[in-house]
Parts: sequence; structure tokens; C-alpha cells
Amino acid sequence: MSPSTSQALAIGLLSGAAMTVLATGLFSYWRPETKPEEPKHEEEMQSDIVDGVAGLIGNTPLMKIKSLSEATGCLILGKAEFLNPGGSSKDRVALNMIKTAEESGILKPHTGSTVFEGTVGSTGISIAMIARAKGYKAWIVMPDDQAVEKYQLLEKLGATVEKVRPCSIIDKKQFVNLARERASKFGEGEATGYFADQFENEANFQAHYTFTGPEIYRQTAGKIDALVLGAGTGGTLSGITCFLKEHVKNMKVFLADPQGSGLYNKVKYNVMYAPTEQEGNRRRHQVDTVVEGIGINRLTQNFDRGRRYIDDAFRVTDEEAIKMSRYLVREDGLFVGSSSAVNCVAAVRAAKQLGPGHIIVTLLNDSGQRHLTKFWSDEYLKAQDIYTELTPEETVLDFVK
Ligand SMILES: Cc1ncc(COP(=O)(O)O)c(C=O)c1O
Repeated sequence: MSPSTSQALAIGLLSGAAMTVLATGLFSYWRPETKPEEPKHEEEMQSDIVDGVAGLIGNTPLMKIKSLSEATGCLILGKAEFLNPGGSSKDRVALNMIKTAEESGILKPHTGSTVFEGTVGSTGISIAMIARAKGYKAWIVMPDDQAVEKYQLLEKLGATVEKVRPCSIIDKKQFVNLARERASKFGEGEATGYFADQFENEANFQAHYTFTGPEIYRQTAGKIDALVLGAGTGGTLSGITCFLKEHVKNMKVFLADPQGSGLYNKVKYNVMYAPTEQEGNRRRHQVDTVVEGIGINRLTQNFDRGRRYIDDAFRVTDEEAIKMSRYLVREDGLFVGSSSAVNCVAAVRAAKQLGPGHIIVTLLNDSGQRHLTKFWSDEYLKAQDIYTELTPEETVLDFVK
């Protein structure tokens, strides 16, 4: 290429580039203004957009627990309640108790009104979360021996947390009694104190009768041979049981009860008595178990609402619950809390009693994350002398007798 030709080419390229820049600039300058797309009308939006945290509650999946199903020859299904936004099935209860109080005019948002509750933790966390979302305060009275992460969560959610020594329900300082008393003395002007009272409040039962029960019915197309559940307040067991017994023929209901709880004897022999509660025998809790959330030594109205439908009960030891929780992680990658582990032990026992080919439903109430410093802590279990190891060879049929 001669110098004059390459000079001409360079000039051509340069002027071409300059024209392009100029044209682009002019075009964007003159371009008619484009408006951002109008947001679509709500009806046209995705139907899975929900309204705040309350919209995330419920409609939890029902999961097949593969290891337990394969070991027993039954289909063992766990309702994944740990997926609720507050981390447990108690979200449903807290939401319904607060809604019911609003409907009856007891609670008005943004008036300084406060929801009081006596709880071992999960219900408190759910109440604290929903109270925030709806413009209330939460005041939670709890026994002081629960897993530390529950108190921490409550504080982060802005609740007032009052810890008390565990004692009998006949004591005025028992956590439920104290919550009731605090609520009765609270209030000024428009600000009211509402005692949620999950043990006796029918809105607890209704949350499960109206939502959890029908969800399970839909998810299984009504094909359920057995429902297996533990009980604290009894709201979950009674609510789901009453709905399903009305709609599913020949379904059996089994109570899963941790050691130290009196409900097992109440169901089997109509006597509320746990040998570990005998004088001089009591070791750690009101209910002598490492399991939190289920097991109780009194008859609540919410348990009584479904009691007539309970066919039988299984007692589950701490050792079985601990092994089950470790087994579910080892086999299924499923990390659950203590009450869910009790439910799964009892589900396997139900499967053994019924034989292969049956469909058994239970609840996975909360995740192991809420139990890291107690049920899931080897150090804690060793200090309490209840440490137990799942050996690599052990299968579920070895440790669930
Ligand atoms: C984690 C967990 N699972 C299960 C239950 C028992 O449910 P219910 O009170 O409906 O018997 C509770 C009760 O507090 C709980 O905290």
C-alpha cells in the first residue's frame, strides 16, 4: 500500500468514526423520551407474590422422608413446618390468635398494645414476628432453661423477654401464670394487654383445623393411614386430628410423647402420671426431657379438644430422639429440632405396628438451628449425662424398638 493510499484510508476511518459518534449523540439527543414500563396491575402479577410475612405462613410442603420410608416399607411423610417464616408451625397459631383478638376488638394496631405470652420459645418467636408486622409489641415470659438461641431471636425481634425459673403450674410465678398476670395489669388509654394463652385459646386449635389439616388432606388426596404427632399445648394434634378424622375413614392417630410427659399415660390409661415426676426423681425440666416444645403434665383445653380421637400413644426416649435427629442428617440431609425427631421415632413405631404399605403423616415442627446449644450440642448432652452416639453401622430399625 502506497503512503498516500494508507493516508486516505486513515482519514476515511477517522471521519467514519467521528460521523458514527456524532450520529449516535444526535440520535440519543433527539430520541423521544421513553417512559419506564407502567407497573402491571396487581391481577396481572404473579400469583405467588404474598402480602408481608403473614403471607409466607402455611402451605408448607409435605416431604417424603426417604430413609424412614425405605426402612419400614411405609410412605412416611413429614410436613415441613420449619419453612414457615418464623421457623415453626407456631407461626400459624400466632397469626390466628392475633387476628382473632383484632376481630373481637381486643387489639388495635399502633396503639402501644402488647401481646403477652407464656411459652417455651417457638410461639414467642412467632408472636414477636407477627406483632412487629401488625403494629404491636410482644412481651414473652419463658422458662430460663431453654436453648439460648431462642432468647436471642426474641430480643432481635424486639420483644421484651422475661426469664423465670421453671416451676409447677400451681405456682404464681410459672411462666404462663406470670404472662397472664402481666397482661391483666397492662394498659393505659388505647393501649391494651392481650394474653394470647396458646394452651387454652381456641384460635390455636382453629389454625390447625382450618389450615394445616385441610392442607394435609389436599396433599395426600385423603390417603392417610396414620397421623403421628407430639403435643405441647395440643393445638396442632387436636386441630389436625379433628379435621382429618371427619374426612378420612379408618385413619389412626398416635400421640408421640417424650419421656417425663404425662400425656402418654393419659391416652393409654386415662391417668396423668409420669414416673419421672415422682418425688426425688426429677432431674432437669418440668417435663424431664431434653426435648423442647412437646410433653406436658397437665390437661389443656386444646389437647382435650381432640383427645377422644387419639387411638394410641408411643413413648419416645431422649436417646431415641437424639439418634433419630443424627440419623436424618446422615441419611437424608434433614436437620430438624427435638420435637420433630420425637415425631419421626413415633412414626417409625407406627409403621412397624401397621406393617409395610401404609401412609403415615407427621410434622417437622422446626429446624435443628433452633437447638444448636442444647439438643444438638454434644457438650451439653455430655454435661447432662444423656450423650449418645449413632454408630456408622446403626440403622433406624436398630435404635427404634
Ligand atoms: C417446636 C415445637 N414443636 C411442637 C410443638 C407442639 O405443638 P402444640 O403446642 O400445638 O402441641 C411446640 C409447642 O410449643 C413447639 O415449640
